[in-house]
Amino acid sequence: MKVLVTGGAGYIGSHACLELLEAGYEVVVIDSLVNSSVESLRRVERLTGKSLTFCKADIANRDTLTELFTNHKFVAVMHFAGLKAVGESVQQPLRYYQNNISGSLVLFEVMQKAGVKTLIFSSSATVYGAPESLPIKESAAVGTTNPYGSTKLFIEYMLKDLFVADDSWRIALLRYFNPVGAHVSGQIGEDPNGPPNNLMPYISQVAVGKLNKLNVYGTDYPTQDGTGVRDYIHVVDLVRGHIAALRVLSALEEGEVITANLGTGNGQSVLEMVEAFELASKKPVPYEVAPRREGDIAECWADSSYAADRLDWRAEYGVARMCEDAWRWQKNNPKGY
Ligand code: NAD
Ligand code: WQD
Repeated sequence: MKVLVTGGAGYIGSHACLELLEAGYEVVVIDSLVNSSVESLRRVERLTGKSLTFCKADIANRDTLTELFTNHKFVAVMHFAGLKAVGESVQQPLRYYQNNISGSLVLFEVMQKAGVKTLIFSSSATVYGAPESLPIKESAAVGTTNPYGSTKLFIEYMLKDLFVADDSWRIALLRYFNPVGAHVSGQIGEDPNGPPNNLMPYISQVAVGKLNKLNVYGTDYPTQDGTGVRDYIHVVDLVRGHIAALRVLSALEEGEVITANLGTGNGQSVLEMVEAFELASKKPVPYEVAPRREGDIAECWADSSYAADRLDWRAEYGVARMCEDAWRWQKNNPKGY
């Protein structure tokens, strides 16, 4: 059974490729490498002892995509390809709409033509905007605060509309909370270009000595210690949620759109993450208090009970393991791939 993985060379996509190969699927990756290196896929092949097919192309390239669907018989598509930096999306909104929305549109059109109608889409908790209550259920109001988030929400709408028009589609909209950590081998992990935007890679780079100190964005939130609280989820748990979704979609007798949060259901503050990372790495993570970051919310964590019921999936790893694995990746690969 062959799966097309868009954005498969990236952080989450590479972990998904590894998990798919280990679960016995064949894998074809399409990735433009706009934010990744093909080295991640070489390492996936080494770790699994299995090979995958790699196509370096943009998903907006209709001819290449069509050729892929002609040459391979896919049972499903896992769609990770997309630009994901919130701040950058505010600066370059058209690039984000072009890349994420137009690219997805071409992909869905080619899938429809090829009759491949099983899709797992990387959505995000960002679609909840500033949540009205916690934990966040899938039924919560949606609304976005930046162009990146808007692309995720709009792609969800596109897929829901597609299902209304053709109810044979089997679609999983997986709303990730904060993916962190790395494969236990320390061979693949998150490799941001330039200074990281996100907390965990930033902490890792401070611990390894690449950056001097962490800026803690705000200590006056109404949270346990005044710093922002998030639902961090181990990337391996996250990709296992995709395999679970693939199994559920494949077993459906008729089409459906399943929308599910992928989170642990727990919230950790910035300072709790710093402490957990220091414990795991045995390295100091110096920090300084900085003003709040524009657009940040105080707290966000998932109600993950729907994924448990519907996908028979639960996150297994806690924060200590997330930090241990992130640290192993960082210290083995201080310069990334
Ligand atoms: P990533 O940047 O590491 O991976 C995305 C991959 O897609 C990269 O390899 C990039 O080169 C590729 N890509 C981007 N645009 C492309 C295009 N038009 N055609 C072909 N390839 C393209 O990011 P990630 O953290 O692995 O995220 C994967 C997906 O999950 C993204 O869609 C992201 O929006 C979503 N997501 C990520 C997070 C997170 O915090 N990491 C949270 C929620 C959702
Ligand atoms: C976490 C906490 C910061 C960096 C983002 C996207 C979201 C999703 C996941 C894709 C916050 C604090 C951070 C730093 C800090 N991505 N922080 N110093 O903002 O919850 O979510 O990634 O869909 O869309 O918005 O994650 O890791 O940036 O921040 O104090 O240098 O860490 O203020 O409280 P966020 P994050």
